Amino acid sequence: MCGIIGYIGSNVASQILTEGLKRLEYRGYDSVGIAVLDNSSLEIRKDIGMVDEVSTALQFTNVNGHIGLGHTRWATHGSVCRENSHPHFDSSKKIVAAHNGVIENFSKLRDDLLSKGHKFVSDTDSELIPHLIEEHAKDSNLLKAFIKSVLEIQGSYAIVALSSADSEERLFLARKNSPLIIGVGQGEMFCASDISAMLKHTKTFVPLEEGDIAILTKTGYKVYSVDGSEVQRKQITVDWNEDIAQKGGYSHFMLKEIHDQKHFINESLATDVTEAKKLIGEYEKIHVLGCGTSYHAGLILAHLLPDKNIHAFIASDYPFVAKPDEKTLIIAISQSGETADILQALRFAKNSSKIAITNTVESTITRICDITVYLNSGPEIGVAATKTFTSQLAVIFKLAREKPVGLSAIIEKMIEKENEIKAIAAKLAGSEHAFFLARGLNVPIANEGSLKFKEITYIHSEAYPGGELKHGTLSLITDGTPIIALAPKDETVIKLLGNIKEAKARGGLIISLTNDDNVKEESDFVIGLPDIEVSLYPFALIVPLQLLAYHVSVLRGINPDRPRNLAKSVTVE
Ligand code: G6P
Repeated sequence: MCGIIGYIGSNVASQILTEGLKRLEYRGYDSVGIAVLDNSSLEIRKDIGMVDEVSTALQFTNVNGHIGLGHTRWATHGSVCRENSHPHFDSSKKIVAAHNGVIENFSKLRDDLLSKGHKFVSDTDSELIPHLIEEHAKDSNLLKAFIKSVLEIQGSYAIVALSSADSEERLFLARKNSPLIIGVGQGEMFCASDISAMLKHTKTFVPLEEGDIAILTKTGYKVYSVDGSEVQRKQITVDWNEDIAQKGGYSHFMLKEIHDQKHFINESLATDVTEAKKLIGEYEKIHVLGCGTSYHAGLILAHLLPDKNIHAFIASDYPFVAKPDEKTLIIAISQSGETADILQALRFAKNSSKIAITNTVESTITRICDITVYLNSGPEIGVAATKTFTSQLAVIFKLAREKPVGLSAIIEKMIEKENEIKAIAAKLAGSEHAFFLARGLNVPIANEGSLKFKEITYIHSEAYPGGELKHGTLSLITDGTPIIALAPKDETVIKLLGNIKEAKARGGLIISLTNDDNVKEESDFVIGLPDIEVSLYPFALIVPLQLLAYHVSVLRGINPDRPRNLAKSVTVE
């Protein structure tokens, strides 16, 4: 939630910040702003809207100066309005800060500051950060004032701050439960919520750890623990190419990422699962945790290990429904590795061994878990997860069974059907509801297809095991209601055919993903499936569902990369 970025060097800060914010926009896009210091003049430009829109209207890149910070917001505290946009000033307008996270002791801190004469112009919790620094700077140097301020804050934060009254040019950084990574350049330094925002400038990074405080100067960085003592943190180098974080000729990141799946699937399959597989072999009781798309991958994992006492949980609910102990193995699935719901669930399972499955190098989840299995999918920018889901499936299959073969060809075959899928999308674009039906192993794929569909088309959709239709949902099926049936020729198809007929008899418009002749006969539209090894059908099914959601979204005039109210990395509970 929220993207933050900082720059210090010899180049024009506003340009670097604006470009970086475009990369971070997937984290939130309610409003955007930058603060740049030019000699002693500290200027903030910010407003509601997307990065392109606001940065053009307010001419971000005309701001001079070589040190600055920026923020793109996903509102948590206070409505979407200019005043609540970041960065925020202190009372003297000499200190600015941008914040990602939630300050839990906000009321107390704000009341204290109000009693000391500070005035606030926004409803955000974040605005108190520059005021706290200002207050502490009355009797401490700036670094000490920053550390004292950070120590007072309870909750989650990634903070970047700077002051025009500083004796030297520095950026002040802090992180706890929200990601913040330093980018190491030549004569310039960066920081951002994720690597992709800095990839154009450097491949060397220092992920900050929980509770770290850091300062950046033009020529280097120092990291401190909360007691003010300097600490060393690991530098990492990534070999990601900046092109991965570009649209590469596609109209949207989501479409590119769907097409990219045929390449990245092989990278994912190459991931090392040896240690994780050994640990799974040692446990009988396994809890799989995930949110959203990652939860659907978790459901598949639970299906693939039927001999274990295994259960997939929605991470946000986990503490209310489960009792993990030292005999429980936790497998936590999170593409970002930063989702607050999953991190709190992992902290709840304090006595259990833990495996992380994530796409994000050095993310918080990797620090909490004993073993990490990486997805190797490259950065995913579209808010709706696509290639990381397919990668999760590939890794899960490799973990639970043998390494699957032929996946890239299966995905490619399904992508070739894009024009047919686009034509079907045109039939669905005016719908108000859609229902996804499947059985068995294909149900989590129906769940995922339905989630993709609703989040980017704004059409209400639900997914069911086919047998459930007659227990209530059938009352919603009338003339022309779209029914998307996942009906590969496997053990589920005969029963699902019965459910398709039930829906058709009530007027349902049947769109089937199938290679079964009987299902084809009952269908209004067919997306043909190849004849493949039955357990691999999830890989063939998911791609057309992603494409269907994408094309309906575009036909409805929606930007599928930035669906309303959502964010890719959700760092609040
Ligand atoms: C957000 C995203 C979803 C994602 C979920 C879990 O809601 O919009 O696409 O599935 O978070 O994210 P994670 O990074 O933990 O897999």
